[in-house]
Amino acid sequence: MQGMNIRPYVEGQDDETLLSIENAAWAEAPEFVPDTIEQFRIGRESPNWTPDGMYIAEVDGKPVGTANGYIDRHRPEPLGFMGGPSVLPEFRRQGIGTALARRALDYLCSKKMERVMTGCGDWNKPARALLARLGFEPVRRSSLMRRPLSQLPSGIGENQEVEIEVRGTTDEDVALFTRLSNAAFKEHFAHRDDTEEERAFWMRNIGKMGLVVRRTVASLGAEPVGYMVHGIDQRENKELGIRRGGLWSVGVLKEYRNRGIAKRLMLEGMEWLKGQGMEEVELGVDNENVTQALRLYERLGFNLVRSSTTFERPLG
Ligand SMILES: CC(C)(COP(=O)(O)OP(=O)(O)OC[C@H]1O[C@@H](n2cnc3c(N)ncnc32)[C@H](O)[C@@H]1OP(=O)(O)O)[C@@H](O)C(=O)NCCC(=O)NCCS
Repeated sequence: MQGMNIRPYVEGQDDETLLSIENAAWAEAPEFVPDTIEQFRIGRESPNWTPDGMYIAEVDGKPVGTANGYIDRHRPEPLGFMGGPSVLPEFRRQGIGTALARRALDYLCSKKMERVMTGCGDWNKPARALLARLGFEPVRRSSLMRRPLSQLPSGIGENQEVEIEVRGTTDEDVALFTRLSNAAFKEHFAHRDDTEEERAFWMRNIGKMGLVVRRTVASLGAEPVGYMVHGIDQRENKELGIRRGGLWSVGVLKEYRNRGIAKRLMLEGMEWLKGQGMEEVELGVDNENVTQALRLYERLGFNLVRSSTTFERPLG
């Protein structure tokens, strides 16, 4: 496109530009709530944030789009990620999204990545068409599921032996949640172990993003065997005028599965959300989760709201 130029993001100077493009480009997404500059800046402080591979497209000097190639330095395999592209609505269908995506892919290639992964909601026809044209193939689907918090089930095999305890964010808690979650998700799609440094950052800073977070551990005797992270996104609820909680992560150690421990953790968490005045609860799940989590959630009365797809393509 004539007059278009793609340049790298400049740290410290481009935050508002990037955020305003993202917020405008995603405005049509279902239940979209714009990010604030405070949230953006907290994300920038996190241990894995890097400005490398981030690009801004300008037309006659006006910023109109963004995309990024991201390398996860903790991942041993040569797999990179593409964020975006995001293009302002009035500048679409002129090749800007394609040019931005190609720049992000070139960056990943230059860093010796061999494959690239990205994702988008199944409602997003333009993005799916763009990804197909760029040679991406679908590799996985995920579901967003919800249920009302009224009439919570009981007597569905939830474990009665485990003790449920609410934990905080001490160094000991960080180590415990890192260990439990890494062990529980070991065999999962595209998993890599979290480090204690990154988990500590998010456990201690997520509250500043407007989320109320509650973390529980299920123990048998003195042995922690499962955990759950759940809570309330207060900003989202206010913006959308809803009362919704979320079950954000649940895991049980392999040798303790099929004993109703996840059911117990989830029912306890849902009771708590209800006690906080929430009316419904949501969660996300990989449809092909090796532990058949989708079935558990259906058993707990969750219904599909919408799906999203993960795509991959080789590089080089
Ligand atoms: C998806 C998005 C980035 C595309 O940006 P764009 O600058 O319009 O893309 P391009 O002009 O390079 O389009 C390239 C091709 O993608 C496909 N495409 C893009 N928009 C489309 C649409 N609305 N319907 C059907 N196909 C579409 C077409 O094949 C198009 O080629 P064509 O115009 O020659 O037919 C833009 O719609 C956007 O910002 N959406 C919101 C954010 C988002 O969903 N990002 C994608 C994350 S994966």
